[in-house]
Amino acid sequence: MNRVRELKKIKDEILALSTSPLYKYRVKNNYLPVVGEGSCYSQIMLIGEAPGKNEALTGLPFCGAAGRVLDQLFVSTGINRKEVYITSIVKDRPPQNRDPSPKEIRIYGEFLDRQIEIIRPKVIGTLGRHAMSYVMKKFGLDTQLEPIGKAHGKIYSAQASYGPIHIVALYHPSVALYSRKQITVLNQDFKILKKYGK
Ligand code: URA
Repeated sequence: MNRVRELKKIKDEILALSTSPLYKYRVKNNYLPVVGEGSCYSQIMLIGEAPGKNEALTGLPFCGAAGRVLDQLFVSTGINRKEVYITSIVKDRPPQNRDPSPKEIRIYGEFLDRQIEIIRPKVIGTLGRHAMSYVMKKFGLDTQLEPIGKAHGKIYSAQASYGPIHIVALYHPSVALYSRKQITVLNQDFKILKKYGK
């Protein structure tokens, strides 16, 4: 499989996704879809919820305030951002940053599923409860789902189509914007990502 070509195909399909409830809002605001960033050979994949305004303006994931928290976490845990593939479930910005609807999660989730099959990560870090819930359900870990306050920092083992995979539940980096104490928690949890992504 040509990973670059397959990812490009996904990008083109999302660009033309006029059936999405978020398509009109994207076009009206001159926003871009945020498909993902990083190497298609990354061992670590980070999955957020949906792009915010800065992301939709640039087409790049986590380039706003939450992205600065993420960068800080990469530096302090010695993970090179370029070696991580970063994406989110929903690829278009929901108006007013509202939670994505179940329909939106279903529509864009199919693209995320394909991205996972293309990149074949060893470890997936889910950022926030929506991503945690989507990814754990996808890998048949429904019965182990619990609130993010309990789940964060835990490692879940599952079987992907291409081999074993680990899932690490993480808080969304934006929590550190409201509570600085959370950066310490995020830092601890990010160390697990590094360990399993080797
Ligand atoms: N939150 C996300 O889930 N993704 C982004 O790109 C930015 C904020």
